[in-house]
Amino acid sequence: MSRPTATRANGSRMDPAGGPLAGRHVLLGVSGGVAAYKAAALVRGLLREGATVQAILTESAARFVGAATFEGLTGRPVHTDVWADAHTVPHVALAREADVAVVAPATANVLAKFASGMADDLLSAAYLCLRCPVVIAPAMHTEMWEHPATRASVDVLATHGVELVGPASGSLAGGDEGLGRLVEEDELLDVVRRLAGTNGGGPLAGKRVVVTAGGTREPIDPVRFIGNRSSGKMGYALAAELVRRGANVDLVSGPSHLAAPGGARVHHVETALEMREAVLRLVDDADIVVKAAAVADFRPADYHKQKLKKESDEFAEVVLTRNPDILAELGERKNGTLLVGFAAETDLEEERGRDKLHRKGLDLIVINRVDMADAGFGVDTNRALLLDVNGGRTEVPLTTKARLATMVCDQVEDLIERAGEHEGSDDL
Ligand code: CTP
Repeated sequence: MSRPTATRANGSRMDPAGGPLAGRHVLLGVSGGVAAYKAAALVRGLLREGATVQAILTESAARFVGAATFEGLTGRPVHTDVWADAHTVPHVALAREADVAVVAPATANVLAKFASGMADDLLSAAYLCLRCPVVIAPAMHTEMWEHPATRASVDVLATHGVELVGPASGSLAGGDEGLGRLVEEDELLDVVRRLAGTNGGGPLAGKRVVVTAGGTREPIDPVRFIGNRSSGKMGYALAAELVRRGANVDLVSGPSHLAAPGGARVHHVETALEMREAVLRLVDDADIVVKAAAVADFRPADYHKQKLKKESDEFAEVVLTRNPDILAELGERKNGTLLVGFAAETDLEEERGRDKLHRKGLDLIVINRVDMADAGFGVDTNRALLLDVNGGRTEVPLTTKARLATMVCDQVEDLIERAGEHEGSDDL
């Protein structure tokens, strides 16, 4: 006898024994790349985990893999066109019923459309209507991925609060090798499972979090400043991920060209002293402070209101004075706030990291490499070592900053849960 299953408004089955994605409805967008054939395997994986899947194919995706493949797998009609069944307003209806949306593979064209808000086909129009977690897995040739236009799309998408997964390195269409390959099915399923499970209801939901991001600029005169190479990408990715997990986020940002992550309140600052003032103003109401900013350790002792002449002695000998260490100050006056610090290192030396963790009164430290072409300042990827106050250690090999942000948030959630357990045991 078959097991009875309840049906939700969006048609998904609520089957308690049906796998980690049981009762979840996934909207799968497939765009036109060779990797479109892998989306069919992804449908299988999602179904195996208990999800129901609705596919939207772009016109060019349908040239790579026939709609019949997806219809056969999902058991539902595949949508490709805003004009078919127009009376059902498909871009709105399909987006509304989704618990999670996955776009795999996402071409450079689709990334650009999503980033710019264009809505000239069903997939891009549905994207604008999505209010659920969104996972985007780009796949394209390395040259296209590396082009400034695609980089700009990716930067904007990070601020929409979507999760970008990959691309990975490996064989590409036409026998080429390099970065641009669709990530493996397991990695995508991991992300979908996490987003379907948390969706704002996890330990970070409702927590007040202050995130700092970017570098500070310490002015010498109205024209010149001392600064550093920080782009803000790591802090902005963290703010976006925290918002996605339901946190109430204040982002204190040094100068950055990045657009504000949707859902976070952004406080723009320029100098270390301004950052300190903003953080101290916000910290009293905060449950968590994440200090991803690269704060200048020194500033010019005197600010010259007039532009210094290049011949002037004052310019030749700018005297520096030490900036306050905001994080150390927070550690000293700590009152139940969970503190996450960052350290920029040219190696991932554990002992020095642990020493910094304890010296600054932190709960978690993210030590990142800043001396490699694919890690640290300005790039989208990073390598890191996470050390927590309970002795935990997680080494993170090369990954995207978005993915590192999810790992940091996972660790913060663990720390919140452990702190909750301790509180509980004190009451006994
Ligand atoms: N930090 C801060 N205020 C400062 C300097 C740093 O709040 N004036 C914070 C940063 O936001 C980051 C961490 O402290 O979270 C970095 O710690 P720091 O001891 O400055 O380490 P590094 O700059 O990485 O390295 P170094 O040990 O060389 O100082």
